[in-house]
Amino acid sequence: MAVMETAFDPHWREAWTRSQVESSLTLPHTYALLMDEEQQPLEGDAKAAGFILARRAPGEEELLLVGVRPEFRQRGIGKALIEWFFRTARANGADQVFLEMRDNNPAASLYSSCGFEPIGRRRAYYRTADGESLDAITFGRKL
Ligand SMILES: CC(C)(COP(=O)(O)OP(=O)(O)OC[C@H]1O[C@@H](n2cnc3c(N)ncnc32)[C@H](O)[C@@H]1OP(=O)(O)O)[C@@H](O)C(=O)NCCC(=O)NCCS
Repeated sequence: MAVMETAFDPHWREAWTRSQVESSLTLPHTYALLMDEEQQPLEGDAKAAGFILARRAPGEEELLLVGVRPEFRQRGIGKALIEWFFRTARANGADQVFLEMRDNNPAASLYSSCGFEPIGRRRAYYRTADGESLDAITFGRKL
């Protein structure tokens, strides 16, 4: 939650609340990956630099959220988290992965560099704090 609270600009209303995260993690198919600034899985009381929240389904996995603390960005942690997610998904038996993001999110360049391709658009799916509507873009990738 410490990363969630610093990583996401409230304007876009993308961050999840603690209770949303807690309830999602009580479901057997939802999981989190947490990484430290050395790009190692988080251990003990170390400070998290970034995280992924993801969900499994038979043969596929969905990347629900990825966030990196602003002070640790542009150092490859986001990419390392996504590659860790790919390895986890493969180990779980998935052969494809998906994600959904707001249309204007600059993270699109990170997703493309990780091999994701845009495969769909949901019109006016998100609403910003100002009430502006934004499309959702679905990305997919074969593993
Ligand atoms: C998106 C995010 C996770 C990227 O984390 P990061 O650790 O900075 O990413 P990396 O350092 O691994 O960057 C990997 C690539 O993506 C590019 N990139 C990353 N963030 C970018 C941004 N905001 N704008 C443009 N390019 C970006 C990098 O230049 C790099 O490209 P390269 O491999 O060609 O050099 C981070 O910016 C973030 O937490 N954003 C806010 C939360 C968010 O919007 N999450 C996505 C929606 S759930």
